[in-house]
Amino acid sequence: MDEREYAQRFEVEHAHYTEDLDFWRAAAGRLGSPVLDLGSATGRVARALAHDGVEVWALDGSGAMVTQLVRRMESEPAEVRARLRPVCADLRDFALDRHFPLIVMAMNTLQVLTDHDDRLACLRAARRHLAPGGELVFDVALPDPEEITETMGIARQSGYHRDDATRTTLLHTGWYDAFDPATGTLDYTMRVEDHHDDGARSVHFRHHSVHVFPPAELNLLLAHSGLRSVQAMGDFDGSPLEPHSERQIHRCIAAGGAP
Ligand SMILES: C[S@@+](CC[C@H](N)C(=O)[O-])C[C@H]1O[C@@H](n2cnc3c(N)ncnc32)[C@H](O)[C@@H]1O
Repeated sequence: MDEREYAQRFEVEHAHYTEDLDFWRAAAGRLGSPVLDLGSATGRVARALAHDGVEVWALDGSGAMVTQLVRRMESEPAEVRARLRPVCADLRDFALDRHFPLIVMAMNTLQVLTDHDDRLACLRAARRHLAPGGELVFDVALPDPEEITETMGIARQSGYHRDDATRTTLLHTGWYDAFDPATGTLDYTMRVEDHHDDGARSVHFRHHSVHVFPPAELNLLLAHSGLRSVQAMGDFDGSPLEPHSERQIHRCIAAGGAP
């Protein structure tokens, strides 16, 4: 995958996904500034919060993503720009001179770390950056191993977005490529087809490898990271995590009180 091309298209390729934004806005409203957005990409969540008046540190390890966020900030109003602080750093090993009442990891970001020790290092680094009483809030998918096996290789529609600025309609399709139950690593492909109003068409493939978390494994990881889940939700509407939920959304605090 060409990192620069992906970063430049990240915003438009994820513009159809907005169902979580009110949830992150409410969390920031409850816990206050500054917010640390871990794996912020080009600022899908960070920019939304900055528009609400929240100061956000947007951390990503991809120089291309951070560069694209900086470029994107140029078209934001000056007061929004002033609230955003892009940081290029590794999720597994970052040290910021700051503690945060809210740290967010949105849109499955924890799943991009396919190595157990990397996930542990990331969550421990997040814990070290929590202000007293602060929360780490993140969402990951709730896997259904049977469904993954049964639908392997089968394409399904996963999104649609009309971009009026470029007079383009984006159609998203996705399929699973491989799943290793021993490691919990899932490989999948997203196919984005651009239909321009003038009839031109282009197709973009994104190959990803992610870790899928059975709930018990996730709870163990949180415990080993010195974090305690105070609320586990199955959806961004706040409904509780159930066996049939599609998501696992955790509000975590430092175990044993203030970090
Ligand atoms: C799923 S995307 C993030 C989506 C974003 N949180 C959102 O809600 O729109 C995962 C991000 O994590 C970043 N990333 C992956 N591995 C990383 C690492 N080791 N350190 C820092 N960032 C990393 C990628 O560059 C990518 O931008």
